[in-house]
Amino acid sequence: MVKGKKVFQQTCGTCHKLFEEGNAIGPDLTSADRKNTDYLLEQIVNPSVYIRPEYVSYEVETGADQILTGLMVESTTAAVTLLDKNNERHVLPRGQIKQLRESQVSLMPDGLLEALQPQQVMDLFAYMQSNESVAASAKSQSLESRK
Ligand code: HEC
Repeated sequence: MVKGKKVFQQTCGTCHKLFEEGNAIGPDLTSADRKNTDYLLEQIVNPSVYIRPEYVSYEVETGADQILTGLMVESTTAAVTLLDKNNERHVLPRGQIKQLRESQVSLMPDGLLEALQPQQVMDLFAYMQSNESVAASAKSQSLESRK
């Protein structure tokens, strides 16, 4: 469980929360259909097939011919704020936006599992499909072992 947690933190936790830990770029996975391995695999292998409307990513081309991609976390008459995959916010004044379009691809990269060893994939799934209480005891265990 501890190993799977580490894989999660490195591969997914940069964008997702699970059991109260991790960044909040993508949806919190604690309440996702985690016990459903087919569902998880589909989402991980091909993130762009189904994207929830709240998590559609946008591409902005600025006057300086810079292209930024991210989730639109704020939109006012004055500016648009994009949150990129590195958890950085970009406030783009409307006057500097040349083009703004919905992206067809998810902010979540595909091929994430290909970068892992088979054992790491198994550890990751064991951790993601565990119950919160088990994960919590793994947490106290890893604290124990650090003493
Ligand atoms: C760069 C950020 C990023 C990384 C890294 C990332 N994801 Fe995602 N993930 C997202 C975003 C944004 C969405 C929402 C858009 C979508 O469905 O593609 C998402 C959607 C999902 C969903 C669907 C959840 C739902 O409720 O719609 C699952 C499941 C998921 N990710 C699992 C993972 C797992 C497991 C990993 C690690 C192997 C991972 N993600 C890595 C950003 C990321």
